[in-house]
Amino acid sequence: MKRTKTSKAWMREHLNDPYVQRANAEGYRARAAYKLMEIDDRDHLLKPGARVVDLGAAPGSWCQVAAARCGTGGGVFALDLLAVEPVVGVNFLQGDFSDDAVLAEFERRVGGDKVDVVLSDMAPNISGVATVDQARSIMLCELALDFAANHLHVQGSFLVKVFQGEGFMEFRKQMEQQFQSVQTRKPKASRDRSAEVYLLGRRQR
Ligand SMILES: C[S@@+](CC[C@H](N)C(=O)[O-])C[C@H]1O[C@@H](n2cnc3c(N)ncnc32)[C@H](O)[C@@H]1O
Repeated sequence: MKRTKTSKAWMREHLNDPYVQRANAEGYRARAAYKLMEIDDRDHLLKPGARVVDLGAAPGSWCQVAAARCGTGGGVFALDLLAVEPVVGVNFLQGDFSDDAVLAEFERRVGGDKVDVVLSDMAPNISGVATVDQARSIMLCELALDFAANHLHVQGSFLVKVFQGEGFMEFRKQMEQQFQSVQTRKPKASRDRSAEVYLLGRRQR
């Protein structure tokens, strides 16, 4: 395939990115691993034995971090549209989180026991139409929030990637109705130019 100027510039930026270089050196599948690690170093979500759900898991760097920090005692349950190479200690399901049949199968795997942490790094495939992409992103956030409402432990935490724009404040308000505290996190590995932030909902401070 012919490389355009834009794709060459993207590749150059990607290869020179210190988080990409660090991920390659340390065996993480994506630079996103450092976003979760920075948030977790501050907020202590991932504890040994915790049961964790990872929505939008491919290629699997958050699974790697969650499995390393929680161990195999609780269980990490992950889901993505795309396949994920196996990660020890992670129960992975490939499918669309907005599909009722996929959700039912995922819920069957997670089982009746509540989970300690729900993570969602889901981001829709970009269509290029900003309003459509933003609406899809907020819809995924709302589905993840519904899942968290049904499956989180009374002291559980919900960490979700949200793009600032149309619907952001309304979504934050929905989180405020569900959680005792809602805080914004923008880890260093999240590029300044990206509208993404993470909202962290906690049921107990
Ligand atoms: C930024 S990536 C996640 C990176 C991941 N946290 C990691 O550390 O490797 C966002 C993921 O959301 C997934 N995704 C988007 N829409 C989805 C949906 N409807 N159901 C499941 N996964 C979805 C995409 O396939 C993509 O892999």
